[in-house]
Amino acid sequence: MSEKIEFEICLGSSCFSRGNKNMLKVVESFLKENNLCDKVNFHGGHCLGNCAQGPNIKVNGKLYSGIDNFKIIGILKNTFDL
Ligand code: FES
Repeated sequence: MSEKIEFEICLGSSCFSRGNKNMLKVVESFLKENNLCDKVNFHGGHCLGNCAQGPNIKVNGKLYSGIDNFKIIGILKNTFDL
């Protein structure tokens, strides 16, 4: 039994206004298009305590900062070995 990947997107006000509002849609579309929804526990979270370097996400406990539309696709591809 493989564990689901824990994918948290910061929805604190700083990250949300700096890009995660849009990133949320990018990630959702990517997961749907690649049939990955059942392999991941994708959820929003409160401030991750790293606002200045935001927007931030956390994948299996690893923090990624300063993400944008391009970086997030790279992170997703790496995470799922695509
Ligand atoms: S709002 Fe995202 S780290 Fe603070």
